[in-house]
Amino acid sequence: MTRTIDVAEDHAPAGFGRYFEHVEAGAVSGRDARQDWRQFAAAAIPSKTSTPRLDAFLDGSVPAGDRGGRPTLLDVGCGDGRLALRMHDRGFDVTGIDVSDRAVEAARQLAADRGHLDHPPRFAVADAAAGDIPCGLGEPFDVVVCQLVVSIVGGPADRDRLLRNCAALLGAGGRLFISASGVSAEVNADYARLYAEDAALTGEAFTYFSRDDAGRVLYATHHFSEAELRGVIAAAGFVDIAIEPVLEASSRRPDERAIFLYATATKPSAHATHHRGIAT
Ligand SMILES: C[S@@+](CC[C@H](N)C(=O)[O-])C[C@H]1O[C@@H](n2cnc3c(N)ncnc32)[C@H](O)[C@@H]1O
Repeated sequence: MTRTIDVAEDHAPAGFGRYFEHVEAGAVSGRDARQDWRQFAAAAIPSKTSTPRLDAFLDGSVPAGDRGGRPTLLDVGCGDGRLALRMHDRGFDVTGIDVSDRAVEAARQLAADRGHLDHPPRFAVADAAAGDIPCGLGEPFDVVVCQLVVSIVGGPADRDRLLRNCAALLGAGGRLFISASGVSAEVNADYARLYAEDAALTGEAFTYFSRDDAGRVLYATHHFSEAELRGVIAAAGFVDIAIEPVLEASSRRPDERAIFLYATATKPSAHATHHRGIAT
């Protein structure tokens, strides 16, 4: 069955409408998540201004006093680079990747606007959920950070590949920080309604379309249960997985409350076997 979603072409970037004019009910793959994000205006990419759990994770993983040699950090889905710069300022040697060349351009500009930086962050366009893992990025990294990405990267197979790529790009014993949107029906009735209305379109429970104020679809978002997020992280070979659910304001709609899941994990030292670049 084909459903037509209300799209105002005159408000959409060139070519944008074709991605959601006709969405096959029952398939989130009716949209192309990568194309959604490539078309997304860099200035509007959702982010958080305050990241206390990430900050605590970074301090716990590599204490500030041990950062003289600048531990290497990969920022997966770096957006406009503001988070990468904050992590640079905390003493890390940061590489940011994003599927959007607009985002990477904005991130490079943000870094350039800061003037001369010691070990300036590097940014590259790369699909972090690709079947062929991006390489030549400076791996193996000491730390991988994936903030607000796993929920919007596409379908279940994309999420799996994203986590496996994070594992493959980390050095043995390396640390992962990943944040995800959590199932929020109990704290926000709007989400309960969205889950119910959009499941037939997206083909997946707790996956709905994030829309702009005019109701136009922007991209698909998946809300994880804790068990589900743990499962995806464990399937990629990580150990020592800890997940903390936190009630916060939505990153794109600050007046809306939502659960965010903050997960940390470690790549075990024995996790060094590679097959065609993908950790096994
Ligand atoms: C919600 S934003 C978060 C940006 C940034 N992590 C932050 O917290 O400020 C999600 C970002 O992930 C990027 N992204 C989506 N799919 C991706 C993929 N397959 N590979 C790399 N980046 C991706 C988007 O372009 C966007 O910049």
